[in-house]
Amino acid sequence: MRVRLRDAKAADREAFWKATLETAWRDIPEDERAGMDRREFESHFRQAAGPYLDDPRNTLFIAEDERGTPAGHILLGQTMPFYSSRPYGFIFDIYVAEWARRQGVGKQLIEFAFKWFQEQGLEKVKLEVADGNESARPLYLRMGFKMDRHVMGRSLR
Ligand SMILES: CC(C)(COP(=O)(O)OP(=O)(O)OC[C@H]1O[C@@H](n2cnc3c(N)ncnc32)[C@H](O)[C@@H]1OP(=O)(O)O)[C@@H](O)C(=O)NCCC(=O)NCCS
Repeated sequence: MRVRLRDAKAADREAFWKATLETAWRDIPEDERAGMDRREFESHFRQAAGPYLDDPRNTLFIAEDERGTPAGHILLGQTMPFYSSRPYGFIFDIYVAEWARRQGVGKQLIEFAFKWFQEQGLEKVKLEVADGNESARPLYLRMGFKMDRHVMGRSLR
């Protein structure tokens, strides 16, 4: 399915939060999520992630199908590693609506990100993915991403 990307408007925000909160909740490591309250999580997450959405260096794009129905989104920006003053592009969030999955929309969103970053003169793009995310990981591998670094965790209970 072909999609067209456009800048997000204020009216897109609630749909963005709904999708992103769902993904973020699902991606919390199981041992941590067990003791968490969903409402508290949502309010904390909105506070913590809100600045990324409001940061003028970041842009949220909405993918629409041929009828103008939103089919997904991608939040793009830049970050700077501690070891270099050269920023790299960062995909903060990517989402495809359930009804639109496995039709190449995720691939188009990532291809769009590559072009967007290249136009800014960036030479590398990074993202984070939960180890258990069995849809996003294969997509990223398919799009040429390689594992850079692992975050490891161990329960202390
Ligand atoms: C991850 C996600 C964005 C993929 O979007 P999508 O539009 O379904 O992906 P595409 O159709 O472009 O898939 C391209 C390729 O990625 C791989 N892929 C995508 N979803 C997959 C899945 N569920 N299982 C295995 N491989 C998958 C396949 O190689 C696929 O090619 P194929 O369909 O020809 O086999 C979508 O599943 C999603 O929004 N998930 C919830 C949000 C999320 O987890 N975001 C990532 C946070 S890090």
